Amino acid sequence: MTTKNIYKHSILILDFGSQYSPLIARRVRELGIYCKLYPWNVSKEKIILFNPKGIILSGSPESATLFNAPCISEYVFDAGVPVLGICYGMQIMAMQLGGKVEISNKCEFGHKQVKIEKDITLLRDIQDNISFDGKKLLDVWMSHTDKVTLLPPNFINVASTENCKFAIIANIYKNFYGLQFHPEVTHTTQGISILKRFIFDICHCNSEWISVNIIDHMVETIRHQVGNDKVILGISGGVDSAVTAILLHRAIGDNLVCVFIDNGLLRLNEACQIKNIFKKIFGLKILHVQAEKRFLKSLSGVVDPELKRKIIGRIFIEIFEEEANKIRGVKWLAQGTICSDMIESSVSITPITNIIKSHHNVGGLPKKLKLMLIEPLKELFKDEVRKIGVELGLPDDIIYRHPFPGPGLAIRILGNVTKEYADLLRIADAIFIEELLIANLYNKISQAFAVFIPVRSVGVMGDKRKYEWIIALRAIETIDFMTAKWVNLPYEFLSYVSNRIINEAQGISRVVYDISSKPPATIEWE
Ligand code: XMP
Repeated sequence: MTTKNIYKHSILILDFGSQYSPLIARRVRELGIYCKLYPWNVSKEKIILFNPKGIILSGSPESATLFNAPCISEYVFDAGVPVLGICYGMQIMAMQLGGKVEISNKCEFGHKQVKIEKDITLLRDIQDNISFDGKKLLDVWMSHTDKVTLLPPNFINVASTENCKFAIIANIYKNFYGLQFHPEVTHTTQGISILKRFIFDICHCNSEWISVNIIDHMVETIRHQVGNDKVILGISGGVDSAVTAILLHRAIGDNLVCVFIDNGLLRLNEACQIKNIFKKIFGLKILHVQAEKRFLKSLSGVVDPELKRKIIGRIFIEIFEEEANKIRGVKWLAQGTICSDMIESSVSITPITNIIKSHHNVGGLPKKLKLMLIEPLKELFKDEVRKIGVELGLPDDIIYRHPFPGPGLAIRILGNVTKEYADLLRIADAIFIEELLIANLYNKISQAFAVFIPVRSVGVMGDKRKYEWIIALRAIETIDFMTAKWVNLPYEFLSYVSNRIINEAQGISRVVYDISSKPPATIEWE
């Protein structure tokens, strides 16, 4: 089988530290084009190696007017490919090519209207409105204080706003373009159309970065990489490990051995569901390890959230090692690591000085097991992983399921974890999720779950007094899980869910709804 070269038509994004840089990458990938974010000071050799069809320069919180402002490698202008500067990217390009940038006394922030004075390929057939004097208008999103005040030689002015004479500039001979606004944000209605013109009509890219091609390429690469060796993979039921499993299975069949550790802290029927999907539907080889007792025993009497996380992480690694040692001839450990938006961007990374929670995942495994590491999804964003999951035939249940933390229900049961609490929490959580699905709310929110509060409260049912536990419900909306807003669920909905939980989960007398956003609260309660 010959696979398409998914990296042949690629765009390089030079990151000057804008909050929107990862969004530019997302937009380009959505158009079916491979792209990568590199820090602004990446070496010429790395750019040559990447061999892009075009280069995009991101925005920045910096000012191009400062002496030591981050600048564009001269090689970018000699690379012989089109360049698109966005906001700061346009200003620093103008400055370096002989124009002028000044600090303005009026900053432009938010929605603005851009009037197009000259029609160029970048804007062909693109408009939102027409002005009284017959000029094309665009609704765009601006966020700048500095502005270009003198064009570099061979540049023309293409469009202006009330306060910004040079809102779009171009050197059409060299194919260098500058946009003072942000085409990557959805508030710029024609933003995607402009990026399309740049990528397809100016850089002449073809969309090869699409799920079927990515899958073919990955399957081939995995086969080439591991040959006839055995690979071990821990599956959790999350979309990343699921997609990794199916891809590997497609590539190497039964040489893939999956380990599924049931820690007794999973959601209702989750273990069955996982076995059913992976074993029965996809025919994967799965070692199902029943370890509820071992986890609960080690957690008994432990109330500190960090300690709970550490214990769970340690036992997980112990069990995984035991299972790996039982399989003869295994040489590779597969992981479902995906590309975090910032991975290649050294400018935007802030040092972590204060660890709020130590997230448990299997990151500690490779060194301990002395296995070679294979991470097929390393270059993909979450939405790309989901699209590939759909293409591979994974059910929606797995693909669009809300995230679930590695330590599972242990960090949703406050303090001491017991089987009684976990069983009650599972029922309450399942009712909440079931009702969200029925009410068509589940896919509109980012994460929802129930929390067990081990405090007794008085209630009355029939004529009988109850003195039982409390459940809290949490639903949040977020883009990146770094900040989150609690969801304003309808009162009638909450009331119905509360009623069902108190009636069906014997041992719960009260249900409360969490109205804390992040920050100051975190998403999980522990
Ligand atoms: P917090 O509670 O930190 O949660 O606001 C942010 C997101 O991370 C998930 N989370 C975890 N995921 N291991 C994980 O794999 C963990 O230890 C862990 N702790 C929190 C949480 O569910 C939310 O989506």
